[in-house]
Amino acid sequence: MRFAETVVLVTGAGSGIGKAAAARFASEGAKVILVGRTKSKLERAAKEINESLNIPMAEIFPADVTDEEDVLELARYVEEQFGELHVLVNNAGGSVHSKIMDTTAQDWDFVQNTNLKSVFLVSKILGKLMAECADKESDISHNRSIVNVASLSGHQAGAHIPHYSAAKAGVINFTKALALELSQYGIRVNSVSPGFVETPLTEQGMQNEQFVKAIRKNTALKRAGKADEIANVIAFAASQEASYMTGSDILVDGGWLIK
Ligand SMILES: NC(=O)c1ccc[n+]([C@@H]2O[C@H](COP(=O)([O-])OP(=O)(O)OC[C@H]3O[C@@H](n4cnc5c(N)ncnc54)[C@H](OP(=O)(O)O)[C@@H]3O)[C@@H](O)[C@H]2O)c1
Repeated sequence: MRFAETVVLVTGAGSGIGKAAAARFASEGAKVILVGRTKSKLERAAKEINESLNIPMAEIFPADVTDEEDVLELARYVEEQFGELHVLVNNAGGSVHSKIMDTTAQDWDFVQNTNLKSVFLVSKILGKLMAECADKESDISHNRSIVNVASLSGHQAGAHIPHYSAAKAGVINFTKALALELSQYGIRVNSVSPGFVETPLTEQGMQNEQFVKAIRKNTALKRAGKADEIANVIAFAASQEASYMTGSDILVDGGWLIK
């Protein structure tokens, strides 16, 4: 069990990649805190995860990760309930579609806040808790790590998602800055960049035959990914198996960029 005795927090865990990652951590022994804005989604996800295990491992905390007060409350909850945080997965994200000339300043702010400011706020506030926990230990051998979910769009700007592409490129570079700053505490920080994955975020697009055809044509593996295939890589980056990896981005795009 790679995550026995490990407290893991996953943002955006009510659906898609976050939910799959939370399930993977819990199935490997972690206590998992599921964070998202919609309580009913979190409850459903936690129930599903707990029903698949002998001992319930998933708990929920509804919060908006773009709101500093919510994140501070989340940190207080984690400290009081667990007194520790080993793994943080900044997965919450989302986008709207528009060309640059049609993008409003409001759209721009929404996408930056959801994808980039959220990673900054949660990393700053919960990263502090992780660093304090590491500081209390006589050595820093306990595996502690942060995994930020970026995107293929952070490497190659996607059509009609200029704000999202810019934000995700920001996540990849912020990850490197954070990795440098937290290295003194033995906390590794990496990002995972998924290509096209079947989740509620891409559900609408996946119903469009042209879109699905374009994914098949442009992806070396000729298909979209599944949330579990990204969760597996997130879990690897978070685990002791990746003990010498920090400040890296792992592209999991089915071979989109090589085509
Ligand atoms: N699917 C893909 O093809 C793909 C590709 C590359 C990267 N990604 C990235 O992967 C991550 C997960 O996306 P997904 O595909 O799994 O989509 P998803 O199912 O829509 O998951 C995103 C989750 O984030 C939560 N969320 C959004 N804004 C939030 C906020 N302000 N505070 C707290 N939680 C928030 C949502 O729940 P609530 O609305 O209830 O808060 C939702 O559960 C995102 O960062 C996305 O950009 C996805």
